[in-house]
Amino acid sequence: MGMLVGVFKLTLVVGALFASVGTTDLGSSCNGQRLILTDPNGTISDGTSDYYPSTSRCEWLIDAGRPNQTITLQFIRMETECSYDILYVFDGNSLNSTLLASLSGNTVPEPILARSGYMLIYFFSDESYTEKGFEATYVIQDCPYNCSDQGKCVNHECQCDSGYWGDYCHMKICPNFCQPNGTCDVSSQSSGCVCNEGHAGMHCDLSLNDDVGNKLWYLLAPSGSGFVPRTSHSGVFVESSNSLWVFGGYTGNGVLNDLSKFCLNQSRWEQYQSSCHGQVPVVAMLQWNIEVAFLFMVEHCKTAPKVMNYGILAQSQKAGH
Ligand SMILES: *[C@@H]1O[C@H](CO)[C@@H](O)[C@H](O)[C@H]1NC(C)=O
Ligand SMILES: *[C@@H]1O[C@H](CO)[C@@H](O)[C@H](O)[C@H]1NC(C)=O
Ligand SMILES: *[C@@H]1O[C@H](CO)[C@@H](O)[C@H](O)[C@H]1NC(C)=O
Ligand SMILES: *[C@@H]1O[C@H](CO)[C@@H](O)[C@H](O)[C@H]1NC(C)=O
Ligand SMILES: *[C@@H]1O[C@H](CO)[C@@H](O)[C@H](O)[C@H]1NC(C)=O
Ligand SMILES: *[C@@H]1O[C@H](CO)[C@@H](O)[C@H](O)[C@H]1NC(C)=O
Repeated sequence: MGMLVGVFKLTLVVGALFASVGTTDLGSSCNGQRLILTDPNGTISDGTSDYYPSTSRCEWLIDAGRPNQTITLQFIRMETECSYDILYVFDGNSLNSTLLASLSGNTVPEPILARSGYMLIYFFSDESYTEKGFEATYVIQDCPYNCSDQGKCVNHECQCDSGYWGDYCHMKICPNFCQPNGTCDVSSQSSGCVCNEGHAGMHCDLSLNDDVGNKLWYLLAPSGSGFVPRTSHSGVFVESSNSLWVFGGYTGNGVLNDLSKFCLNQSRWEQYQSSCHGQVPVVAMLQWNIEVAFLFMVEHCKTAPKVMNYGILAQSQKAGH
């Protein structure tokens, strides 16, 4: 009899322990949630639990209520299992809308802008391993960050006051006249700095001849600098012109067929203009080999196929047709 009472007591204690874990430590998660947000600002997150659960599926639709309003998503924290637990951000109200970002890992992303009047956010975690999750605030405005009070908002686009540039006029053209490591090109629509040899970066503060800052990420050009974000592209660094050439890739919505050049001395993207006089799009290929950089570029013009070569070690390749 006495023994039975003892067992009963033990059961009660264990039950109470589970109850306290359930209510104070686990918190709530966004799993299974589909929310429509219409407030002019707010917060989204994976929930209040320490770690998000595995196999989570969460969805938020931010609806500005008017077309072309800007929705800006700014992250406070970001920690998901790299490549497996992903936060997708779309510019529109369906999973078929333009994919703006596919985020994972522990780098806090730059602000993300949707310009359609909607932003759809979808979080997916797989069956294994979880992390601490994410938190971001959003705000709905006519123009992002009201053009930082350094520009006018016209038809939902910032027209920057002189001396400023960027998606929301938050960047100064030629800060300190780019001294002492560069010179200023005031006519520029970007950072304006033209760096002296051996320097790079928007303010020419990055030295190319020492290892200061080695292993740190350095922002060479912000989004909205004339380059479409992409993955699975090919690229090659061409030392003789101090530039990085990038061809094609995948945007998440489609395949690109463009050729862009990033000039390191001006932190600036340039689009390659075809010499086919607009007859057909450029068809080009860059190839990167671990030992040697080859840059093949084949341009097909409708009337006269033409082969062009660039690069350190260039090789020509005959156009098939
Ligand atoms: C939303 O905006 C109001 C007024 O500007 C501000 O008081 C509030 O803190 C904001 N909320 C969030 C979640 O950013
Ligand atoms: C929204 O933007 C599109 C494309 O720029 C434009 O055609 C349309 O007229 C705009 N609509 C409104 C209500 O501003
Ligand atoms: C997305 O597009 C596919 C193929 O065009 C279509 O079958 C599907 O219904 C669309 N989904 C949504 C949510 O619009
Ligand atoms: C946005 O900035 C302009 C000045 O460029 C100012 O007149 C206006 O009041 C600002 N709007 C808000 C909502 O802060
Ligand atoms: C000039 O370049 C050096 C590196 O060579 C850097 O340490 C310094 O900060 C740069 N100066 C400015 C004002 O950017
Ligand atoms: C900057 O680099 C480009 C090639 O990328 C070159 O044409 C230009 O002359 C360079 N400018 C200066 C000032 O070095």
